[in-house]
Amino acid sequence: MKIIKVKDYNELSDLTSKIIIKEIAKKSNLVISLPTGKSPLGTYKNLIKEYKKGKVDFSRIKTFNLDEYYPVKKNDIKSYRYYMFNNLFNKINIKKENIHLLDGTTKSPIKECKYYEEKIRKNPIDLQILGIGVNGHIGFNEPGSEKNSKTRLVNLAPETVKRNKYLGKALTMGIYTILKSKKIILLASGKEKAVAVKDLILGDVDKNLPASFLRESKNITLIIDKQAASLL
Ligand code: F6R
Repeated sequence: MKIIKVKDYNELSDLTSKIIIKEIAKKSNLVISLPTGKSPLGTYKNLIKEYKKGKVDFSRIKTFNLDEYYPVKKNDIKSYRYYMFNNLFNKINIKKENIHLLDGTTKSPIKECKYYEEKIRKNPIDLQILGIGVNGHIGFNEPGSEKNSKTRLVNLAPETVKRNKYLGKALTMGIYTILKSKKIILLASGKEKAVAVKDLILGDVDKNLPASFLRESKNITLIIDKQAASLL
């Protein structure tokens, strides 16, 4: 596990966007898996800035999103679809057909998750970007999630319901699906992440802290700022 400590959220976002741009320069049809939330927002802003300067071309990349609320309407401002289009996809030259999102309107979550797994199997993820929940979740793999879990419908943990102000369930890539990615980068910023980061780095590999399964991946880099690293 590689750990990169940075000063603050701005440095974390700078570094992460630089890594993504470098990976796209190396492989123009990079397959990248993306999270939502606060952690990647600065990174997405930087990517848009660099795109406008002509420093990066997204026309051949493919994306998969990590998760989506369920049920949620496509144009609901709470949906992760809305977040992604609003904060990134509408502002760069990614092709619509290369964007993959879990469908929060599906009538058959089982079919939808199977279809998503199948698409990922055909387009293996080169670069997986993750945030981490204060309870150690990755994607919506909440405490108790199994290492061999695949994309599926899950219940949100009570603290996630409270923090995210969302009462329903979610569709999420599984731990197994995430661990299959060739490279994984986890972002953690701020004091509220310090306990989860400490447990991830120093604790046992334990399903009660799903992020700890990442320790079993050879290609994991944590980018953490001073506050998130404050208990190490
Ligand atoms: C979101 C996701 C979640 C978040 C996590 C941290 O797509 O997969 O695991 O990454 O809840 O959220 P923020 O970044 O808002 O602190």
